[in-house]
Amino acid sequence: MAANIPSFTLNDGTKIPSIGMGCWMGTPGGGERVYQMCLAALKCGYRHFDTASGYANEEYVGQAIRDSGIPREEIYLTTKLGGDHHRVKEAFEASLKNLGVPYINLYLMHWPQGFLDGKVLGPEEHPTFIETWKEMEKLLETGQVKSIGVSNFSIKTLEQLLPHCSIIPATNQVELHPCLPQNELKAFCEAKGILLTAYSPLGRSTIFMEDKMVQDVAEKNKASPAQVVLSWAVQRGTIVVPKSEDEGRMLANITLVPLSKDDMEIIDGLHQMPNMHKSLLVFDDKPGTVFGWTYDQLGWSYRK
Ligand SMILES: NC(=O)c1ccc[n+]([C@@H]2O[C@H](COP(=O)([O-])OP(=O)(O)OC[C@H]3O[C@@H](n4cnc5c(N)ncnc54)[C@H](OP(=O)(O)O)[C@@H]3O)[C@@H](O)[C@H]2O)c1
Repeated sequence: MAANIPSFTLNDGTKIPSIGMGCWMGTPGGGERVYQMCLAALKCGYRHFDTASGYANEEYVGQAIRDSGIPREEIYLTTKLGGDHHRVKEAFEASLKNLGVPYINLYLMHWPQGFLDGKVLGPEEHPTFIETWKEMEKLLETGQVKSIGVSNFSIKTLEQLLPHCSIIPATNQVELHPCLPQNELKAFCEAKGILLTAYSPLGRSTIFMEDKMVQDVAEKNKASPAQVVLSWAVQRGTIVVPKSEDEGRMLANITLVPLSKDDMEIIDGLHQMPNMHKSLLVFDDKPGTVFGWTYDQLGWSYRK
């Protein structure tokens, strides 16, 4: 049975379950592990999956969905455009085929950077992310995708993109957790009608499980630290896509606890503690850049 997970409404009127299963396995692929994870997730009530062409496991996510016997329309499926932005339509069709589904709910531009033959394109090189977005907008006409959005965009790159949009991105998927609450980006996106999706919402580490402030809130609410962190994110209006292969943890992650105003404020304040405001992920190919763009080009002002 579907779990009792609240839904949010996107700016195009469609609904999205506020919790989805993240399908990045740490390295591309994951094959059978992804299949088993998604099947178990569907059994325990997940109806939202977040994958990407770059995760190289769309086939396994799609296979689990088909084998579950759950009607396609009861499941929310997100995938993402890979680095080659030259043939958006072909890339989208390849994802549809890999997933083996008639439509995708949400298609995201995974990164603003485009690549050609493995080499990154500069922000001014073609296709720019604005040109890529225009190609994504055309996909909506096919009816094979219901919503489109972006990922890893900042206020800076959104300010460049938005004046050219016929369709405002439904969501912007970014790293977001109590060490990186993305308050400014959240306020900016809310003002534009863009819902934030939190990736790595647990920080891809044990930092929150071991944090005394989070532990205290968890104990008070008879919950685990992970549940507190995910409940905080959903309660402040962001979608979360935690990944877990463990059936106990995946169930815990869709069991939200209502947090009091005081509890919310404690978690809101965590990033203000010494050395706590930070990204918890390492993307950098070399210091100062992420997949070939500088932090300044990405507008990732929280990285110095
Ligand atoms: N758009 C992007 O560029 C981008 C980038 C990064 C991630 N993402 C998306 O975000 C998803 C989640 O991010 P992530 O996998 O990096 O990090 P995460 O979900 O924050 O953390 C996953 C880690 O936490 C563990 N875990 C899960 N539930 C737990 C619980 N209740 N208690 C303790 N540990 C728990 C998992 O281990 P077990 O599996 O053993 O439980 C795994 O090691 C990805 O799968 C992907 O879909 C998107």
